[in-house]
Amino acid sequence: MTRRFLVTAALPYSNGRLHVGHIAGAYLPADIYVRYLRATGAEVRFICGSDDNGVAALKTAREEGKPVEELTAFYNDSQRRAFDGLNIRFDIYGGTHQPGFVETHERFSQDFFRKIYDKGLFTKRTSKQLFDVQAQQFLPDRFVKGTCPHCKSENAFGDQCEGCGRTLEQIALLNPVSVLTGTKPELRETKHWYLRLDQLQGKLSQWLASKKDPVSCGAHWRPVVINQSLGRIEAEGLPERAMTRDLTWGVPVPLDDPDAKGKSLYVWFDAPIGYVSFTAALLQRTGAEQYDHWWKSPDCKVVHFIGEDNIVFHAITWPAMMLATHDSDSIQGVVGEYQLPHNVVANCFLNIKFPGKEEEKISKSRGTAVWIEDYLQSFAADPLRYYLTAIAPETQRTAFEFDDFLARNNGELGNALGNFFNRCISFAHKYFEGKVPPAGERDDADRAQLARCREAVEKVGAELEGCHFKAALGEMMALARAGNLYFDQTKPFLSRKTDLAACARAINVCLQTARTLTTLIAPFLPESAEKAATMLGLTDHQTWSAATCELPQGRPLADAVVLFPRLEGETT
Ligand code: 2FM
Ligand code: ZN
Repeated sequence: MTRRFLVTAALPYSNGRLHVGHIAGAYLPADIYVRYLRATGAEVRFICGSDDNGVAALKTAREEGKPVEELTAFYNDSQRRAFDGLNIRFDIYGGTHQPGFVETHERFSQDFFRKIYDKGLFTKRTSKQLFDVQAQQFLPDRFVKGTCPHCKSENAFGDQCEGCGRTLEQIALLNPVSVLTGTKPELRETKHWYLRLDQLQGKLSQWLASKKDPVSCGAHWRPVVINQSLGRIEAEGLPERAMTRDLTWGVPVPLDDPDAKGKSLYVWFDAPIGYVSFTAALLQRTGAEQYDHWWKSPDCKVVHFIGEDNIVFHAITWPAMMLATHDSDSIQGVVGEYQLPHNVVANCFLNIKFPGKEEEKISKSRGTAVWIEDYLQSFAADPLRYYLTAIAPETQRTAFEFDDFLARNNGELGNALGNFFNRCISFAHKYFEGKVPPAGERDDADRAQLARCREAVEKVGAELEGCHFKAALGEMMALARAGNLYFDQTKPFLSRKTDLAACARAINVCLQTARTLTTLIAPFLPESAEKAATMLGLTDHQTWSAATCELPQGRPLADAVVLFPRLEGETT
């Protein structure tokens, strides 16, 4: 049966450009995963788009003196181009407030809200919220800054502390200050709708606990995701959370209630629904299927790729929202109900390290970010795709170092992988008329090398199935190194003078290794895989099961091209 996957990558806020940390965190691993799944014959839809609503965009629009619609359209476009330049290829790139998407998105978000409302899983409450008297408005989420009551960091906002990562109720902030006017806000009463997370806690814990065992749940959940979410439930329980805000930029609260006037859905309520509404928009375009087929069918696996700061929202809040819409009591997946994620794959943050300095956080304001659009002015996509996978922050923070990027491109990609292709294809051109030479009578060394190819396909595949991208890349590179070693040990450069049949055998095995590598590199290094396929005359390089199908004797080869040119650069 054909496997089906709906893969999403966290919707970036459309209030800034993308940097290497964003790409390493969610988008590149998601793209590698999708390319791999497709190579195995799975049917996949890959969904992303911008998170336009809420305070983040409003705050930046205010700082840049632009209408928020203009700002979000600008960054939606800038992000789309950055992804494109890195060959991160979504089936659709939407935007929760972008023309062509906003109507569908509002409809889905409002239907979702109403469904939960009708189930009685919202409580309307009066609470005290911070109000900016000078600006004459409430200060939701990031419109208020202060000191974290837990870790005492002064970099805490009304929704979350940047110091310790905890979610916060704004009234818990110490010394709150309005981000709009810099004044001290006062407490005023307002009414909001709170999701009864307490009612859903039992099911959520049971579901999360079932993800601890990869064999029974069929997915490799990273310990950080389970620990952070289950740990949160065990330590603090799940208090109700407000899902509406005093804000007009967003999805209007769809209730016929005077208290809903001038209020919007909380951005973290509508953002994950963007995954669904963009799927619907994609299907409207292609006309073929309904979104239910991808979202409400137990035989489709939904996989979310996110950064570490999004874990609680994707492993608790979003599944809780979906559960709240269910008619059945099941967490196993019933046809016609939203399916809880098969996996939530979270990476840690990527830091940056400058020569002679300590590793530090990537920061726009401190000017320590490497922007994708700047990178693409000077370099191709694949060297960055390679580097960010080789240093992927899968279990802990790692650091981007420009010198290391250059060194790995020139050393690992160039000297090991690229050179292997180059030496075997050039050799075939020089001594075998540019064709795959005969395999002859293979000896033990030849058979061992071909066995290594088969093992590499197994190992890389198993690591990719488990979302261990760095390990998968390591296995692929191990095969490239083994290919070079085989070349060095069989010495075709000597045997061509003494034993042409042995020389032909060795080059044949090398070319078979290059063929396998072409399929293995394709999810990670798509542009280079295309060049390699052209050199080998391959058309089925994107089919995982064909990775060890041998090149026939006499297959003409195209001229050798340098896959990974040496890179030089300023290391400031
Ligand atoms: O952290 C962020 O960048 C959020 N905009 C991610 C949203 S993911 C999803 F839920 F839409
Ligand atoms: Zn804190």
